Amino acid sequence: MILAPSLLSANFLQLQQDCDMLNTSQADWYHIDVMDGTFVPNISFGAMVTKFITSASTKYNDVHLMINKPENYAEAFRDAGANNLTIHLEACPHLHRNIEQIKNLGMHVGVAINPHTPVSTLINILQDIDLVCLMSVNPGFGGQAFIPNTIQKIAALKQIINEQNLNIKIEVDGGVTLENAKLIINAGADILVAGNTVFKAQNPLEMIAKLKAV
Ligand code: DX5
Ligand code: ZN
Repeated sequence: MILAPSLLSANFLQLQQDCDMLNTSQADWYHIDVMDGTFVPNISFGAMVTKFITSASTKYNDVHLMINKPENYAEAFRDAGANNLTIHLEACPHLHRNIEQIKNLGMHVGVAINPHTPVSTLINILQDIDLVCLMSVNPGFGGQAFIPNTIQKIAALKQIINEQNLNIKIEVDGGVTLENAKLIINAGADILVAGNTVFKAQNPLEMIAKLKAV
């Protein structure tokens, strides 16, 4: 299992310390949440802050764009150090074009779907991508409760991936806790994102180790 702590719940006045903590931890990836206040009802940060984070990171940088018109920013996030760029199906009327652009920029590409979007909407682009991000909360905020129906979506997507022998990772994003992590992995998830659970823990390093051990 790949564990990707979300920096959204980090302390932005001490980002260097939080990045140092992640670097020494058992976490595998950085998960970097970008919000534009239009696609989602919240604003986080953009390519500039992302670049500071990736320069402190010694790990794989997974950037989750919760923004409209990602084509206008894909190059900026590549230059800011993104290894993977995930865009939202709901934000992209020309999703295939967006995927090609990100690949041509030399990044891995992920597609995220909101809780109400069926996994069947992904069928015609699965062969073109590296990762599917199943949102298990409505994107926009950290610290929300896991939506239980996501478990069926993970299983359904896993079945399609296995049947078609595809090389795609399933990422689950939102509301992941020590209590539900096992269930999510057993359903077929490869990557767990955890924001609040990691950064609001008394001992984030220990929490990361516990999540890795579930
Ligand atoms: C939700 C973000 C998530 C979120 C995860 O809009 O995409 O990455 O920050 O945070 P938790 O784990 O606190 O739900
Ligand atoms: Zn995210």
